[in-house]
Amino acid sequence: MKNTLIIEISCENLDRGKLNYCGEVLKGGGTVVFPTETVYGLGANAIYEKAVEKIFKAKGRPSDNPLIVHVTGEEDVIPLVKAIPPKAKEVMDAFWPGPLTIIMEKSSRVPYNVTAGLNTVAIRYPAHPIAKALIEAAGVPIAAPSANISGKPSPTKASHVIDDLDGRVDVIIAGGDCSVGLESTVLDMTTDIPTILRPGGVTKEELEGVLGRVEMDPSLLTGVLDISPKSPGMKYTHYSPKAEVVVYAGEDESVVKAISNKANELMANGKEVGIICTNETQHRYKKGIIKPLGSKKDMKTIAAKLFSTLREFDETKVDIILAEALEEVELGQAIMNRLVKAAGYKIYRV
Ligand code: TXA
Ligand code: MG
Repeated sequence: MKNTLIIEISCENLDRGKLNYCGEVLKGGGTVVFPTETVYGLGANAIYEKAVEKIFKAKGRPSDNPLIVHVTGEEDVIPLVKAIPPKAKEVMDAFWPGPLTIIMEKSSRVPYNVTAGLNTVAIRYPAHPIAKALIEAAGVPIAAPSANISGKPSPTKASHVIDDLDGRVDVIIAGGDCSVGLESTVLDMTTDIPTILRPGGVTKEELEGVLGRVEMDPSLLTGVLDISPKSPGMKYTHYSPKAEVVVYAGEDESVVKAISNKANELMANGKEVGIICTNETQHRYKKGIIKPLGSKKDMKTIAAKLFSTLREFDETKVDIILAEALEEVELGQAIMNRLVKAAGYKIYRV
């Protein structure tokens, strides 16, 4: 067990003294958890192999799952890659800083434990003021996966990180809630047609607005489970709360009916049931622990609440969570990707 230092920093009033201290810890090879606008990240100096090793150890992360390198501008990318493809520059200009990670050919500067042996590297410039100031204070690129124990939902609040990583890292920066609440979009720019390897905060539609045609990695299409994903992290069962999750997809009417019937049946057998729904359907459920994520018309709020809701269910004694599917358009693609993974791909069309 490490003696983890928990440091509170406010976004409105950045404490440079605290940030410089955390920057020194990172530069010297230590681990610092910090907020980004997507989820909290578990950071270490990306060009220091021994520091990067500590990330895998703290998270219990398989070493074949590569990390994202965080920077604070296009200039920081140059030493990390062979070249910046012109189209990659276009998306950087359009979406950075923000929830977009770009895959390019790596340079020799990036250790192979960051990329899990791949010749490509994933790079992101986050928009969160604490993340930006911390990376600048460190003066080096920062490798950072989501700051959860591997397999658990990504952390979107300081309390989630403290639950998972207190005693496993050098510093945790408690810096409030993450506004996007889902991880960044991972976009492969090494293929002829840019390919989304993980849907996230920047949508396919938004990327197409800048790049023209954009493809989804075939493994992302719901129901296609036998194609191995190009983004190694996407193959792990992930984002899972303790209880089993089952997703129901279809018209509102049939979904509400199917979930209500299932809840009745389970509760008659002595099971505790959780229900994940929307504001629109919330009042139609009569039994179980009912948690609406927000209005269907406001997918941003639904995205921001998904992981914290899955974690809240860990605090209750539910045996099973029945969840409503959402429409897989725009942010709905990323939300459904995470929900279906939390369910271990148990999705019923009703
Ligand atoms: O929003 C985010 O992306 C957060 C914050 C902290 O920045 N980070 C995050 O990291 O979600 P992580 O490690 O949990 O997810 C990184 C994903 C994994 O699915 C990984 O396999 C993929 O990016 N990835 C990283 N490098 C890659 C590469 N060279 N080629 C393909 N996929 C890669
Ligand atoms: Mg993760």
